[in-house]
Amino acid sequence: MTTRKILVTSALPYANGPIHLGHLVEYVQTDIWVRFQRLRGHQCIYVCADDAHGTPIMLHAQRLGITPEALIERIGAEHRADFAAFHIGFDEYHSTHSPENRELAEFIYRQLKAGGHIVTRTISQAYDPVEGMFLPDRFIKGECPRCGAPDQYGDACEVCGATYSPTELKNPVSVVSGATPVERESEHYFFRLADFEDSLRRWTDPAAGHLQPEVAHKLAEWFEAGLKDWDISRDAPYFGFPIPGTQDKYFYVWLDAPIGYLASFKRYCERTGLAFDEFWGPDSEAEVYHFIGKDILYFHALFWPAMLEGAGFRKPSGIFAHGFLTIDGQKMSKSRGTFIRARTYLDHLDPEYLRYYLAAKLGPGIDDLDLNFEDFVQRVNSDLVGKVVNIASRCAGFIHKRFDGRLGPRLDDSELYDRFLQAGARIAELYEGRAFGQAMREIMALADLANQYIDERKPWEAAKDPARLDSVRLTCTQGLNLFRVLMTYLQPVLPVTAEKACAFLGLPDLTWHGLEEPLLDHPIERFKPLMTRVDKDKVAALQAAARAEADERQAAARPAPEKKGIEPIAPTIDYEDFARVDLRIARIVEAAEVEGADKLLRLTLDLGGETRQVFAGIKKAYRPEELEGRLTVMVANLKPRKMRFGVSEGMVLAAGPGGEDLWLLSPDPGAAPGMRVK
Ligand code: MSP
Ligand code: ZN
Repeated sequence: MTTRKILVTSALPYANGPIHLGHLVEYVQTDIWVRFQRLRGHQCIYVCADDAHGTPIMLHAQRLGITPEALIERIGAEHRADFAAFHIGFDEYHSTHSPENRELAEFIYRQLKAGGHIVTRTISQAYDPVEGMFLPDRFIKGECPRCGAPDQYGDACEVCGATYSPTELKNPVSVVSGATPVERESEHYFFRLADFEDSLRRWTDPAAGHLQPEVAHKLAEWFEAGLKDWDISRDAPYFGFPIPGTQDKYFYVWLDAPIGYLASFKRYCERTGLAFDEFWGPDSEAEVYHFIGKDILYFHALFWPAMLEGAGFRKPSGIFAHGFLTIDGQKMSKSRGTFIRARTYLDHLDPEYLRYYLAAKLGPGIDDLDLNFEDFVQRVNSDLVGKVVNIASRCAGFIHKRFDGRLGPRLDDSELYDRFLQAGARIAELYEGRAFGQAMREIMALADLANQYIDERKPWEAAKDPARLDSVRLTCTQGLNLFRVLMTYLQPVLPVTAEKACAFLGLPDLTWHGLEEPLLDHPIERFKPLMTRVDKDKVAALQAAARAEADERQAAARPAPEKKGIEPIAPTIDYEDFARVDLRIARIVEAAEVEGADKLLRLTLDLGGETRQVFAGIKKAYRPEELEGRLTVMVANLKPRKMRFGVSEGMVLAAGPGGEDLWLLSPDPGAAPGMRVK
């Protein structure tokens, strides 16, 4: 077998927010593929970086009162920690805000310019006159020009789906300052994508094999629509690299983002002495693959290969796009509990559960995939714990207790072992083609066979009969050899469990080709549980934590009460008007829920000389037992009102907007039921 030279990347996450479970679809998918290649003995280098530039990051830092450099530093550290915890094995994790990237971006720009592929044009754009900056579409809000829905972004309406330009919005405002944007002209730099149409058409042709079939199809539509010049410059203020030879112009974040793939790899080469050109030079024979989400295809399948060609680099061997993650059938949404941060997951559950679940769901195409928590618990428990790990725990004890921890001298059923090895070819093919779900099914079918084998031999019964001890040893030796094959096949998905299994089996490592030789007459270690069952309560705790975070985000996004504006003070009244309201101290002697009313409590109030029944809309804010015995203030001369549940004879006083946010008034100690408040 010849050793392949492979360079792999995942998309560079924005250094603007936390890694979430949606991101992990991509990084787990890539990591599994990379680990698989290494397990097969190939050279496979995996690089990534934070995508650190752009307006959102600049404004985010401004809001926090820190520099963008400090923000991307902090987020970069969080990203690295999250990825490490999920066992994503990058060889290099860099940042696009790095000297390597700046140098490469300038170099590529100069090459494109020298080739005549850069043109300038003056364009008119929305400008925030208060903030003194041009506004990206997402930083303008207003009413949809088609359906009139309020609070829509400058590029598309989330209510009716219309797309438009920000100048078409009605009553537009800048999200940054609240000012009304004005139109303003400035000179922009454009990359002439159409210069590369012929070679892009050849490169994206389905027959060329660089793209998934459904993606190549999509590309055909884009060619149909015509390749337009790409605006690669932004005006100051902007967080990015200045464009050489300009004043106050910066590279648009998407220009230097993919160059970050080169920059990160360059740094890896500098660290390790590898030759950069062997992978990126025009005559490179190495393989280069980009794993990305389907939302960023245009950048990767059109702009990026064109930039590479224009600057004299080779083009990627393949772009592997994947679909989007939904949670329990719902789009991930920051305002709901479906936006789950990697960190929140790690606070509750083992990362390998998710790696396996995602693997079981991933295919080679761009279909979306759903994380269904019920299915998650059931699949991990039944497959990994119930099937795979179970094999080892069923066999290991006997080898230790009876045979001094040594495996027997031969395989009991070498045909079955061969069958396991032969299945490896198909499983490898599935891994190679990113049909991970299918690969997991094949592996679990083998695990079923292994368990069936043990069930038939019943070593626990044979062990009772001294004459059959040898057969027990052979059964367990067979079982553990099958287990070793399974763990080797699962190693790309479960690196930590595989490592534990490897130590248990007394092996230096697990390799695909190493399986040719079964483990015979070989010492093994004492068995420790390799993986525990998913605890449903922990899943529930994760979901509750995600919901609580969503609520917190919403509360933080809501304007503070002072800002929201205190309710305006009512028109002036005379003292006489006030004096007509008879306010009294009352003791709540009884509080009870009202059948059929979800907001009301029935209060029995002691007014000193008499008792009153009042229905109060405070059920969301108070439990009846918290109220009984306490004093409050009531309007005692309010005209009684007949309600569906009975007559309400007055009202109690409370502050707040309603619902859970209601606070009953209480007098200072000393006040007694019946006293008038004035
Ligand atoms: N910074 C750009 C990529 C630049 S690559 C030169 C970006 N960043 S991102 O943080 O928004 O997304 C990073 C990757 O995660 C993208 O490939 C994106 O498709 C993927 N995902 C983000 N949310 C996702 C899901 N909900 N589901 C699956 N993948 C998702 O785009
Ligand atoms: Zn609309």
